[in-house]
This record gives sequence, structure tokens and C-alpha cells, in this order.
Amino acid sequence: MFKLTLTDGREVQAAEGQTLFAALREAGIFVPTICGGKGFCGKCRVQILAPEGIAPTPEELKHFNQEELAAGWHLACRVAVSSDMSISLPGELKGIYLCKGTVTERELVAKDIMRVRLELAKPLDYLPGAFVMIDGPKMFGVSRAYSISTPESSKNAVEINVRLVPGGKLSTYIHEKLAIGEELTLTAPYSGYAELKDEGELLCVAGGSGVSPVMSLLRTLKESGFNRKVTFIYGANTAAELPYLGELLALQASEPNFTYLPAIATPPAEPQSYAFDTGFVTDVIAQRLTTTDNVAVYLCGSEGMIKAVTTALNVKGTPKSIFYDKFN
Ligand SMILES: Cc1cc2nc3c(=O)[nH]c(=O)nc-3n(C[C@H](O)[C@H](O)[C@H](O)COP(=O)(O)OP(=O)(O)OC[C@H]3O[C@@H](n4cnc5c(N)ncnc54)[C@H](O)[C@@H]3O)c2cc1C
Ligand code: FES
Repeated sequence: MFKLTLTDGREVQAAEGQTLFAALREAGIFVPTICGGKGFCGKCRVQILAPEGIAPTPEELKHFNQEELAAGWHLACRVAVSSDMSISLPGELKGIYLCKGTVTERELVAKDIMRVRLELAKPLDYLPGAFVMIDGPKMFGVSRAYSISTPESSKNAVEINVRLVPGGKLSTYIHEKLAIGEELTLTAPYSGYAELKDEGELLCVAGGSGVSPVMSLLRTLKESGFNRKVTFIYGANTAAELPYLGELLALQASEPNFTYLPAIATPPAEPQSYAFDTGFVTDVIAQRLTTTDNVAVYLCGSEGMIKAVTTALNVKGTPKSIFYDKFN
């Protein structure tokens, strides 16, 4: 056995050849794994302070630049332990806990998007933009990331919104089998953005279940007086795919600082009671925004959407900052 010493003083035992990821998890120290430890997602970053000079794997070469490699950054799922080690965890991972969540509500909030409410066994502190990792039933052996949609004041219960992915293991289970009263195992909170609570203008652009972190932010802002200008552009293929439409329209009616701009690619034939744009989120950016100068931007959705939106935003000016969460 080898000894892993963390910079906060904790010590963990690891067997020869065990991955750092597995050894840390066995000791109740959680690093995120979006890809199940296959080296694709790049989320399980840790810094190895000693020994120095561990050769990077091909996966690590894709996720770190030369400076990061020289500073000892590795993917915990790619490092097989072969000596004692000294390890530093990224700051945001230090408060992550393992917890049970009991399903108390589930409903479709739009076509293929299921809202799930989980009552937590222990209170959870998190920021807007945070996500939980939910373990699937044992037979799947998977753990998946789902963004929290509740405001940060909701510490004893969180909600997630799960989009049905055709052929997807956990999303199909959640849509077809998950029952009220069922207990799920989760680790949380990962990520979250203090910057999203800054003052100054903010533009959020999302599609699909990317609505979740934006709802967390909007609900948090509502509770604290909505003191910043926020525009939310949401893209859907059809009108049936607009989640939280009633809540977002009500928020727009009550908060002068909030504008909701839904974009529907295939608009309904009948007139609707709300305003929407026909096309994609990039069309809304091109047609409705005069400038993105000095605007903070938060993007949430697929890699393709994030790329297209970033290009469209840069045509309009120079955003103050761009945060994004890729859901794939
Ligand atoms: C930071 C972050 C936050 C996220 N937040 C959310 C959220 O709030 N809501 C949400 O719905 N999602 C979110 N996601 C995505 C989520 O974590 C899952 O990736 C998603 O639910 C799919 O998981 P799954 O188990 O259903 O699908 P998987 O089983 O992982 O399958 C995904 C796709 O791969 C295909 N596939 C699977 N196995 C194979 C195979 N052997 N060969 C070929 N194809 C295969 C499936 O058909 C499917 O199309 C987030 C992701 C990240 C990274
Ligand atoms: S868990 Fe995905 S890269 Fe390590």
C-alpha cells in the first residue's frame, strides 16, 4: 500500500496500480467523473506535487497545456499509483459530499424534460451553476452530471431537469422507471459561479436542459431583489419544448430587469399568447442584440451550440466575460 497525502493534511491509502480517482473515492473524497473514468471529460483534475515528473498519458496531453503539465496537473482517473504521493485538489472540490436524495416529485416540464425534486439527507450549500453527480442503479454502474435548478437558498431539497437522451442509460431510467420515494446516491456540489451573482448586465443563452442552471440563477436573483439586468435567450425546436414558460413569463412581467426571448426553430401554426422569435438562438443574437460590449455571458448546452453562439456574440462586440457549461 502507498500513502497519498493531501495538502489539507488528510491521508489516504492506495493499493499499487489503483487509480488516484478510485483511491480518493474509497476514502470519501470525490472528484467529478463525467465520462466514467475513461479520460475523455477532463473533469477529474488534480495536482500531484510529489513525485514530480510523472509522464502524462495521451488523454492528459489533450486536457492540459505545457504549463499545467509542468505544474503537475493530471487526470485522477489516468494515474495509477506506484509510490507515495502528495496531492493538491482544486479548491472547488474540497466541500464535496456524498449524500442520499429521496425523490419527492417528478413531472415533465417540457417535451422530453423531466423535473425531479430530491429531498436531501444533509443540507447542501451551492452556487447557481452547480451540478450534482447522480449514481445510476448498480446494474448500470454510471454516474451522471445534472445541474441544479433550485435557488441557492434551497439547501434541503434540490431539483434537476433531465432531458431524455435516446439510448441513454440514466436519462432513460429517470424518465421511464424512477419512482417517487426512491433513494438516489449523489455527490455534490460541483462547479457553481460566484461571478453569476455579480452586478452588471448578464446574457444567458441555453437550449435543452441547459435551462436548469439559468433557473437556479434567476430564482436566486428573484429572492435577492433582481438587482441586475438579465436577458435569457432559450432555443427550442418546437413550442412544446419550452420548459418553465409560465414561470419565465411571470418573472418577466414582475421584474423590469428581466427579459425572456424564446426562439422556436419550427414555430407553431396557431398564434401563441407569448412573444417568440422564429429560428435559432444565434438568429435572436443577430437580430435583437445591439452590442455585447461589457456584457457578461453565460452559455449552457451542447458543444455545437456554445461554439455557434460564441461566434455570433463576438460579431456584436466584446463580452466582458463568457462562462459556459458544456452538457456533452
Ligand atoms: C456539467 C454537466 C452538466 C449537465 N447537466 C445536465 C442537466 O442538467 N440535464 C441533463 O439532462 N443533462 C445534463 N448533462 C448531461 C448528463 O450528464 C448525461 O450525459 C445525459 O443525461 C446522458 O446520460 P445517459 O446515461 O442517459 O446517456 P449515456 O448512456 O451516457 O449515452 C449518451 C449517448 O451515447 C449513446 N451511447 C451510449 N452507449 C453507447 C455505445 N456503447 N455505443 C454507441 N453509443 C452509445 C447513447 O445512445 C446516447 O445517445 C450534463 C453534463 C455535464 C457535463
Ligand atoms: S473522469 Fe473523465 S477524464 Fe477522468
